[in-house]
Amino acid sequence: MLGTTDVIVIGGGIAGGSAALAAARRGARVTLLTGTPDPEETATRYAQGGIIHTGPDDSPELLVSDVLAAGGGDPAAARLLASEGPPLVRRLLIEDLQVPFDREEGGFEGLHLTHEGAHSVHRIIHHRDTTGREVQRALTRALRAEERITILPATAALELVVSHGRCVGVHAARDGEVVTLLGRGVVLATGGLGALYEHTTNPSHATGDGYALALRAGATLRDLHYVQFHPTALYAPGTAGDRSLVSEAVRGEGGVLVGSDGEEFVDHPLGSLAPRDVVARAIRATMDRTGSPCAYVDTSHRPETWIRERFPAIHARCLQSGIDMAREPIPVVPAAHYSCGGVATDLSGRTSLKGLWAAGEVASTGLHGSNRLASTSLLEGLIFGWRAGEDVARPSPVPDDVAGTIPCIPADAPDEAWSRLRRVMWEHAGLVRDAGGLRIGLAKVEGLAEEHGGTSLVGPLAVARTVLEGALAEHESRGCHHRSDTQAGEENPTEARMPGA
Ligand code: SIN
Repeated sequence: MLGTTDVIVIGGGIAGGSAALAAARRGARVTLLTGTPDPEETATRYAQGGIIHTGPDDSPELLVSDVLAAGGGDPAAARLLASEGPPLVRRLLIEDLQVPFDREEGGFEGLHLTHEGAHSVHRIIHHRDTTGREVQRALTRALRAEERITILPATAALELVVSHGRCVGVHAARDGEVVTLLGRGVVLATGGLGALYEHTTNPSHATGDGYALALRAGATLRDLHYVQFHPTALYAPGTAGDRSLVSEAVRGEGGVLVGSDGEEFVDHPLGSLAPRDVVARAIRATMDRTGSPCAYVDTSHRPETWIRERFPAIHARCLQSGIDMAREPIPVVPAAHYSCGGVATDLSGRTSLKGLWAAGEVASTGLHGSNRLASTSLLEGLIFGWRAGEDVARPSPVPDDVAGTIPCIPADAPDEAWSRLRRVMWEHAGLVRDAGGLRIGLAKVEGLAEEHGGTSLVGPLAVARTVLEGALAEHESRGCHHRSDTQAGEENPTEARMPGA
């Protein structure tokens, strides 16, 4: 089947949804593909903490300085996020889509503001601990109501169509067949790669598909080895979702990280609210030191009624695993959470491949540098998705046919192979890395590629290889990329001694 539209958006989370709305409101016909049958089943839906807005004593300059202090990213991207992001939150999410953010009498603009790690002020708005679910619900409702937007659920992108050096569409699998959609531009908004790791806070469909599409089409990726590990995922072995997120907002509201001995251990002026990479490594170090399988977040300073009201989802999830956070500390461990790098874009979402835009977690404007500031992800998806949508909607010819081969739908790789890949990434491209381990990881990925070439694992293996190679090439520790065999600013002594290095 061949269809044409003006704009194709792949992914229906905050970045894809925002891009689709912006393009449609500029008059473009938009077709939005989601790999999942339920268009609301996105990574956005699982965001707990909230979205950066603004607070008293806040300013765009202060937000820029917090973003840059966390990850040393691109100042122009940070300035744009800080100046255009909060007004768009107000205009689109609060006023237009009417997302039910928690309100507080006498609060700043009537909103309840929460706090998260490495922020100088309270500036994060939220709906209890299910902000993503509410944002996603409102966004999908708006997408459905927009007559210029067609949503195609259960439609998995297989390959971008590139003709004469320009991306002009996508081949996708739908109802067991390959469909081809052509348009004047394609926006990738497929989220991240956390589900390539054995332990992750991400949904299982976050397998880096957008990176694989971009790699295959020849677009430039950068910094894919900057994988952020969230310090506090629930440690509940043996239960489904055993690494569910325990939002940083729990610590933002006063929860304290303690070791198995009940003592605080994060050696940083911001304590439990230090930047994520610092906290995650401190947890791992305390686990190694004490032999405990986890650390704990202690919320015992808060009454039960307050906990149930403020963190109902986390409270309920803990109870499912037999943990009552109102009475006992929550066992936590770090888990893969967010990809700070991605498909390289400019500030309008344009990639190195003409006709291809990218926004949200799959993209890299350079905003996060090597480490993302908490609660920037929804804001990033919103603002850069919107800008990409406005840009791609500019009039240009829509192709009506393309030459070239149509891909086949690959056979599913066995579960056992997926598990092996996830273990490789966890063990060799995890929180702490070294040259030897990264090389072993690459060899294992090559082994998997030999065994499972031509299956659904091909794209994920290409993405895994890119992460491992990037981590091997960057000898210094920086942000969430931590090399145990070097110190920041030093040559890599282990690497230098390795035969053949
Ligand atoms: C959290 O609620 O801790 C996650 C928020 C984020 O990743 O920015």
